[in-house]
Amino acid sequence: MADIIDGRAIAGQLDEQTKADVDALVAAGHPAPGLTVILVGNDPASEVYVRRKIEACERVGIRSSEHRLPDTITQEALLTLIARLNVDPEVHGILCQVPLPEHIDTGKVLGAIVPEKDVDGFHPVNVGRLSTGTGGIVPCTPLGIMKLIHTVIDDLTGKDVVVIGKSNIVGKPVANLLLEEEATVTVTHIHTHGLPDIVRKADIIVAAAGAPRLVRGFWVKEGAVIIDVGITRVPGEDGKTKLVGDVAFDEVQHAKAVTPVPGGVGPMTIACLLSNTVKAARAAYG
Ligand code: GUN
Repeated sequence: MADIIDGRAIAGQLDEQTKADVDALVAAGHPAPGLTVILVGNDPASEVYVRRKIEACERVGIRSSEHRLPDTITQEALLTLIARLNVDPEVHGILCQVPLPEHIDTGKVLGAIVPEKDVDGFHPVNVGRLSTGTGGIVPCTPLGIMKLIHTVIDDLTGKDVVVIGKSNIVGKPVANLLLEEEATVTVTHIHTHGLPDIVRKADIIVAAAGAPRLVRGFWVKEGAVIIDVGITRVPGEDGKTKLVGDVAFDEVQHAKAVTPVPGGVGPMTIACLLSNTVKAARAAYG
């Protein structure tokens, strides 16, 4: 039977460390780290994510504030707010929840956050630092994925990793992190030919395609480690909806270890947001 990688428990341990780091900063006479979240419009999923992020801040002692803006806000007004937050010494992290309304240029808005406060790691400067292995703030989900992999495998040197999905938020940054640790990385996507045969070679599979049950049991090599980043709501047998990952979880008992959905990668993303905020505060305190 494959081991279940318990993302909730591992995120809980990371939160304990983050709380200890916050307490240490406060004990040294600094203000508690501060995170500001910007939410434009009232997309229900974004509302849930933002609420979870704010609650998580409270748990570890990070000060949080929220700017809720109507979806009619102009790009200019949003950029003015970010410019103000960029120079506010009480704000160490700025997170602008995406998606943004269509009339707003998301790249322009995310690029307006100073890289030092970009706790999402989405700014082109942080993306460039990651791809050149020169530090910076690392995006939360890829950072969480690496921590989960390391609970099973210490040394990734020469490991064959197949990443399914090439998004800017998960696929590309996680590929860069894996390369930094000397893994052999194959990034695949919707137009990749012969995906099952490629996946079958992998020691580690990172499934981030957003396609429910895409990865079947027969795609998976005996003893592989599977990180399932997918999370899609589908109709369940009982008439209610349920969350499913990109991996047919019930078919991969021959894997070494697998993350569940929910309770795998998801909790790590928020825990890494908190640790990124503390990192940003520490850098600001010098
Ligand atoms: N929307 C969905 N996931 C994320 C995330 O990690 N950060 C931001 N800013 N928006 C998101």
